[in-house]
Amino acid sequence: MTFAIQINHLTRKFNDLVAVNDISFEINEGEIFGLLGPNGAGKTTTLAMLSTMLKPTSGSATVNGMDIKNNEDGVRKSIGIVFQDQSLDEELTAWENMDFHGRLYRLQSDVRRQRIEELLELVELKDRKDDIVKTFSGGMRRRLEIARGLLHHPAVLFLDEPTLGLDPQTRNHLWQYIAKLSKEHGITIILTTHYMEEADRLCNRVAIIDHGKIIALDTPANLKDGIGGDVVNIRSPDPSAVVSVLEVPWISRIEKQYDGQVTISLQNAEQHVSTIVMLLNSNQIAIESISIHKPTLEDVFLSFTGKTIREEEADGKANMRMYQKMMRR
Ligand SMILES: Nc1ncnc2c1ncn2[C@@H]1O[C@H](COP(=O)(O)OP(=O)(O)O)[C@@H](O)[C@H]1O
Ligand SMILES: [Mg+2]
Repeated sequence: MTFAIQINHLTRKFNDLVAVNDISFEINEGEIFGLLGPNGAGKTTTLAMLSTMLKPTSGSATVNGMDIKNNEDGVRKSIGIVFQDQSLDEELTAWENMDFHGRLYRLQSDVRRQRIEELLELVELKDRKDDIVKTFSGGMRRRLEIARGLLHHPAVLFLDEPTLGLDPQTRNHLWQYIAKLSKEHGITIILTTHYMEEADRLCNRVAIIDHGKIIALDTPANLKDGIGGDVVNIRSPDPSAVVSVLEVPWISRIEKQYDGQVTISLQNAEQHVSTIVMLLNSNQIAIESISIHKPTLEDVFLSFTGKTIREEEADGKANMRMYQKMMRR
């Protein structure tokens, strides 16, 4: 197995704040790898270091076998980066935006033309190639950015929150492109997201990151299996009483959440729900609602951190300001 990326004790501090705290892992060639975590977890900072836009405080990493500290140019040439809606020129056409990028990478004009054709075809923007970007929807812009990130045929593509702010249908559409790039073109993809579903549906493996630390890393299926069965949520006026009555051997995990909801993990929940209701009834504990679902990555995050990823939405604008600062440096 060859690694596309190897990360060793990578750390980044901003004064006293440890944005990325001693992370180590490998990403395999050809895999779609997800960094999943809430706003401020350190996802963008990690991508910025791997793409040589930001220097690590300590630790090291290689991308396509090249050291991010000693071989910045090599790393940059071998990667494509798509950060949140930053740098398309609104006044230029799709084609002109691509062409400008191709010139930056010094692609010969015939190669450039051919690749622009191919990539605009791939992201289904060929018939819009002569329209100015100002007239494009959010999803079209993101597809154009991905096409542009692939123009110099990178082995590794970095996508920072690729579907942030897009509607569900466009998001789905974009997932299909990303999966296709990986499957048909063998490109290694590392993406960040705070959408559990995105990480679950798209990624071969997911690292869950919180406060700069990797708190879990595995395939989505293994992460969800680790929860210990199905998830049952109970709302009651007296959550503490619910917890004490349900301290029984066949419930593998029971927790009171910050919002007063009680979350239970158990195998074959359907068969046990009636017993749960009976136990609560016989102890005079009122039930406002009860629901069962298969575990999601949200449940995994909750089980490790005691909070939900959704509590805070990612802030695209803050990220954008950060790139701009880094690019100027
Ligand atoms: N240039 C910077 N200066 C100071 N603090 C920063 C800077 N960039 C990021 N941070 C902080 O580092 C932490 C991680 O940020 P970031 O990597 O952008 O998180 P994420 O992408 O997961 O939302 C946050 O607390 C953020 O405020
Ligand atoms: Mg970010």
